Amino acid sequence: MEKDVVLLAIESSCDETAVAIVKNGNEIISSVVSTQISIHKKFGGVIPEVASRLHVENVSVVIEEALAKANMSVEDVDAIAYTLGPGLIGSLHVGVMAAKTLAFAYNKPLVPVHHIAGHIFANRFVDELEYPLMSLVVSGGHTELVYLKDPYSFEVVGETLDDAIGEAYDKVARVMSLPYPGGPEIDKLAKQGTFAYNLTKPKNDDSYDFSFSGLKSTVLQFIDRERRNGREINNADLACSFQETALDVLVGKSVRAARDYDVKHIVLAGGVAANSRLRSLITETFEKELPNVKVTIPPLWCCTDNAAMIGAAGYYAYQAGRFGTLKDKASPSMDLF
Ligand code: KG4
Ligand code: ZN
Repeated sequence: MEKDVVLLAIESSCDETAVAIVKNGNEIISSVVSTQISIHKKFGGVIPEVASRLHVENVSVVIEEALAKANMSVEDVDAIAYTLGPGLIGSLHVGVMAAKTLAFAYNKPLVPVHHIAGHIFANRFVDELEYPLMSLVVSGGHTELVYLKDPYSFEVVGETLDDAIGEAYDKVARVMSLPYPGGPEIDKLAKQGTFAYNLTKPKNDDSYDFSFSGLKSTVLQFIDRERRNGREINNADLACSFQETALDVLVGKSVRAARDYDVKHIVLAGGVAANSRLRSLITETFEKELPNVKVTIPPLWCCTDNAAMIGAAGYYAYQAGRFGTLKDKASPSMDLF
């Protein structure tokens, strides 16, 4: 029997300071997420300078709490996994420095993890992954179709050419005067509305790439025009129309990519994977169009940023011998490989 691998994982790429202890990539011993949302809400979005300061204040407390909950000390873990990138440079630095400090003080190997690999491997907490696999990664910073021929080999086959889907949700919500983060608010509001507004569809070409800035601008211009003309907008209908238009192309391209790459499994990943309409649409559409492809949707708690997912991906990086060094620097626009 293979020896257990226990990782202490740190995630600090955006506005969550998170630490988890994860065994063998799929068993959470403890997971603590300290979110800064209530503070960023006041500004209507994440202020990078404020985010990094809060990470500095929180990181040691969150590390202590995760260890205490697991009833462990750093000596008990096999390695320190951490998000090396991509993300906000100042935020990333804090997690990277914390990881390097622990690795140095306790003489533990370092395992750098790509944030998106973390989101994809969050699915390990609910399912075995079957390869070849396609992942639809949808978050505040990313919209990508990532193909995994084998575990821990990543090929980005499509990506957004401009705004990420979560960014479009958040910007549309902001103009509709909804609180930050806007994604969950639009999700809730859309349930009460109908697809009443015919918005210009994002370009749906033969590539697997996405573009959401046109749709975002259409919505912003529509709101502006209606307000100027003193016409009332039905916010629920607008939320529903925006969401249906955006998700249609997202799910359509995912089905096409899964078919063309002949995958056995499709997994959803990232903060927008928490969206209730996307969750049902992906399940229904695959059932209808590609019933032999297994579909996995991460549970809500691990769609948005957390460190357990970094521990899950870190396990494969550890097994593959992908170790870091004390010289590693946070990599805000790191490639997935
Ligand atoms: O993965 P995540 O926590 O952070 C990044 O890596 O970006 O994703 C955050 C994004 C935000 O844009 C947020 O509005 C969006 O995920 N989001 C949602 C929902 N929950 C979070 N978007 C649509 N519907 C939701 N239910
Ligand atoms: Zn994320």
